[in-house]
Amino acid sequence: MKAIRVALAGTGNCAWSFSQFVAQAQADPEASLPGLMCRTVGGYRLADVRVVAAFDVDADKVGRPLAAAFEAPTISATRFTDLGADRDAPVLAAPLLDGLAGPLGEVITPAGEARDATSESVAKALVEHDVDVLVITLPTGAAQAVRMFAEAALTAGAAVVNCTPEVVARDAGLSARFADAGVPLLGDDLRSHVGATTLHTALIELLLGRGLELDSTYQLNVGGNTDFLNLADATRSATKFTSKANALRAAGMTDVSGVAGPTGFIGHLADTKLCFANVRATSVLGSEVQLDVKLTVEDSPNAAGVIANAVRAAKTAADRNLSGAVDGPAPMLFKSPPNGLPESQARAAFLDFAS
Ligand SMILES: NC(=O)c1ccc[n+]([C@@H]2O[C@H](COP(=O)([O-])OP(=O)(O)OC[C@H]3O[C@@H](n4cnc5c(N)ncnc54)[C@H](O)[C@@H]3O)[C@@H](O)[C@H]2O)c1
Repeated sequence: MKAIRVALAGTGNCAWSFSQFVAQAQADPEASLPGLMCRTVGGYRLADVRVVAAFDVDADKVGRPLAAAFEAPTISATRFTDLGADRDAPVLAAPLLDGLAGPLGEVITPAGEARDATSESVAKALVEHDVDVLVITLPTGAAQAVRMFAEAALTAGAAVVNCTPEVVARDAGLSARFADAGVPLLGDDLRSHVGATTLHTALIELLLGRGLELDSTYQLNVGGNTDFLNLADATRSATKFTSKANALRAAGMTDVSGVAGPTGFIGHLADTKLCFANVRATSVLGSEVQLDVKLTVEDSPNAAGVIANAVRAAKTAADRNLSGAVDGPAPMLFKSPPNGLPESQARAAFLDFAS
């Protein structure tokens, strides 16, 4: 099978965990890796992925080989393994735009090279590195920077996986332009492997499936990585609240009082994330059922499991001449696909696409 040539827009914690997962697979392509849901997607193994280039704006990362960029002080996700074949992929400068607005601007110094970078230079690099799939892992709220990367990928003919909650796959106009160009688009906002949204939507489906009526729900999330630092700023987190609400609606939660979002930054948690989910429902004879669940996960490896599926789904879509926002695999991989589904249907649709 041909390799899938991947570029990373943003070399933060999710990109680091994903690159390690790829390295682990490359080291032993036939190994059964915990959390790797599908050995193949469209015939591709995870070991067939090559990270060939990356983009960032951080002075501690730009101009360095990929493995060295992941030693920057803002990386808090656990090192499980060293990078292998992809360790020397170049980290290139990208235009800053709104990438470091808010609290991130206090902990990350922009590289001088970012001043000269443009959408055109990003598109040119994607062509030069023969990139099949661009994975966008930029900070939430960086709407201009995310849009710039999507446009550059469209120009270069590279498929897009949008891990952020910024509107890309849900933008009908942009999706139509990707469709016209024959380029697949997957998004928006990664639904972590066994994360808060996956758990919460499974709980809702369980109760609705037994005929209960939902009364109210909440989902509180805290963590200590730069994603949570950024999300602690209300001007940056708005799209994340909307995206989480989209996922709960797709699970069947309509006209119910509900709140779900990032709820705080606790620095010493580093890459550990805690989710507290509560669902209140009415059952037989008006009796009350309450579920209170606490989930503790390492945030970034949890994202890597989904990116591992998403990049292979994006390349498979290209192989099958699917373009624009791709429906089949998206509801399981993202919180806010153009057409969401309840958890069990989303999983069945993904497995059908992957086979
Ligand atoms: N489990 C998860 O971690 C998870 C789940 C779902 C969605 N997401 C989303 O994925 C995204 C990435 O999360 P993360 O934890 O990796 O974030 P992070 O803060 O670790 O990394 C963001 C990276 O983007 C870089 N950046 C900022 N502006 C840029 C620009 N203009 N061009 C290029 N690079 C730029 C930063 O320097 C940093 O390296 C966020 O939007 C997050 O909400 C994460």
